[in-house]
Amino acid sequence: MIVLGIESSCDETGVAVLDVAPSGVATIRAEVLASQVTLHERYGGVVPELASREHMRSLPLLLDEVLAQCGMSLDDIEGIGVTCGPGLKGCLLIGVTFAQGLALSRALPLFPVNHIEGHILSGELHAADLKPPYVVLVVSGGHTEIVLVEGLGRYTCLCRTRDDAAGEAFDKSANLLDMKYPGGARLAACAEQFTGRSTRFKLPRVAREMEDFSFSGLKTSVSRLIKQHKLEIEGDPALLPELCWVIQDAIVDSLVVKTVREVSKRSIPLVVCGGVSANSELRRRVKERCKEVHLPPLQHCVDNGAMIGYVAGRYLNAGVACPSLDIYSRWPVESLAQLYWSDV
Ligand code: KG4
Ligand code: ZN
Repeated sequence: MIVLGIESSCDETGVAVLDVAPSGVATIRAEVLASQVTLHERYGGVVPELASREHMRSLPLLLDEVLAQCGMSLDDIEGIGVTCGPGLKGCLLIGVTFAQGLALSRALPLFPVNHIEGHILSGELHAADLKPPYVVLVVSGGHTEIVLVEGLGRYTCLCRTRDDAAGEAFDKSANLLDMKYPGGARLAACAEQFTGRSTRFKLPRVAREMEDFSFSGLKTSVSRLIKQHKLEIEGDPALLPELCWVIQDAIVDSLVVKTVREVSKRSIPLVVCGGVSANSELRRRVKERCKEVHLPPLQHCVDNGAMIGYVAGRYLNAGVACPSLDIYSRWPVESLAQLYWSDV
């Protein structure tokens, strides 16, 4: 099935065309992404109203571009998938109404896709041999959870964050260090310049013992640590990579400890996905500690249209009826089985 995937839940507009086989194997025919980083940079974070307007401007252009890239027209499209949540409501609404217009005008099936399920299935999108059950660590700017995947749409949350997401912990720490939005990747890049073990800066590891993730305490500790060493770092900027490394180490350590715990209990493969899975230290440590790890390529760690089209293609191929469209700022993946499968 040739599927068009549309993503607009936050600050990236993604459109992709994929060929999804009933076996679950997919070929990406073309994909385009418009990042809004420069638009939001001067505000230090995503401005929802500006983001919605930018999605509205970009979507028709990206659709033309993606079709031109794969030499197809709308006549070749057999189904559409669009992100309906979780995300910023205004942004979701733009993507959904755009997709609805296309689907109505071409009498195409339109499948409402959960953004987190998009990240989760990006593992299967890239590994044809990966089959459930497996564990997924979803780490993005808005989500941090460990999910057990037992089949398409059959997800159980094993561990989630009580407060901030890991991406937020990266971004807020970067903010405290006056690094420009989006700071997470910048902080990580700075940390990579440090090699060795830091003895100078220390952060507590309280959350290690907890069942769930928690990053708000870490944020307070980071803030205190930065204040304490501000003058020292200003006097010697060479110390900044070391400080970034310590912050990254604390976030990554908490993610890895809990993920390894859940994977070891079950001895099944692990998928790491979402924006923070682009972090090289996280990638290195999970590969070191778990036997079978699947990491999507970097362009599919962050938000993209391909993962959304892939989810829609899987459900449409399975003959699941398109549920009615709505948008959700919150939409837990555990609720999907009941929505898509009649035996639940
Ligand atoms: O999945 P994503 O693109 O958007 C959401 O759905 O949230 O994730 C974005 C998050 C941001 O918090 C960003 O700072 C973080 O992923 N991120 C990183 C890296 N690249 C992106 N965090 C740590 N290291 C990176 N290399
Ligand atoms: Zn995301």
